[in-house]
Amino acid sequence: MKAPVAGSPPIVGHSIQFNYDALSLIQRLQESKGDVFELNILNEDVLLFLTPSATKKIFLDPDDNFSSKHGWEFSIGPTFENGLMLRDFDDHKYHRSLLQNSFRRDALEKYLYIIQPRINSWIEEVKQKKEFYLYKSIKQLMFNVAVELFFDEVDDSKLNYLNQLFINSIKPATTIVRNPYPLTRMKKGLKAREELLEYFQEKSSSIDLSKETLFSDLVKTNKEEAGLTNFEIAEHMIFLLLAAHDTTTSTLTSSIHFLARDIDYQNKVKLESSNLSKNRYI
Ligand code: HEM
Repeated sequence: MKAPVAGSPPIVGHSIQFNYDALSLIQRLQESKGDVFELNILNEDVLLFLTPSATKKIFLDPDDNFSSKHGWEFSIGPTFENGLMLRDFDDHKYHRSLLQNSFRRDALEKYLYIIQPRINSWIEEVKQKKEFYLYKSIKQLMFNVAVELFFDEVDDSKLNYLNQLFINSIKPATTIVRNPYPLTRMKKGLKAREELLEYFQEKSSSIDLSKETLFSDLVKTNKEEAGLTNFEIAEHMIFLLLAAHDTTTSTLTSSIHFLARDIDYQNKVKLESSNLSKNRYI
């Protein structure tokens, strides 16, 4: 059985609407086409399954039917080529196991002690301001937290520069011009990728291994024991930094946006969080 295809303008397909407001586009198409349909983004036909049971089947995938690489390479592939999500099956499992250490419960608990003071001082700063750009501010905060956690870099001038490289390297994920012509986002993104990789390769040669950061852990266990090259470690680092901070930024800013429009829900969340705060770590 063939899934219904959502009609779209030639060449650009749904890319412009998807970039502008993906949520409304998908909701509108779901209403007219049902839970399974095909649309066209960045010149690729993309089949969407919008039910919890389909999501479960696809993600558990016990028979290795579904490729993560093919699902992501048309978008983040050029600038995050060997990240975890761009790997499949045994190769994916192997590389995932190399990163596993940093996500154990005791490691996660340690991170809270680094994250919480940064967030507290951000809240104090924000309280002093009459107005500010929420997305920009949270993006920088999440990036600073991730960098501090992952490799203990706290020099603010360096952080701004690295943040800009990440912004440039994620933009090609949704840009319609897919070739790196001069002055395009793709060209700028590929250059940013190169600079990030150089930075992390250089860092993995000079890192202080006594530090308890995700990066030093990755270098210790993987360079010495698993034989990863500095390049492979750098690839994992740039993917992880992206996966950790860009997603959290969108989730937080979208949640704040919707909460700001719904006082009843805000009050429910306040109540729940004040009950939870009895079990706070710090
Ligand atoms: C609210 C925040 C987050 C959201 C919404 C989010 C969402 C996602 C999504 C949609 C995927 C792709 C799943 C797939 O198609 O296979 C993913 C993968 C991944 N995320 Fe997150 N993520 C968040 C936070 C984080 C954080 C904080 C980290 C790390 C510190 C992280 C690390 C990863 C990694 C390593 C993968 C690849 C997993 C694999 O392929 O095995 N994510 N995330």
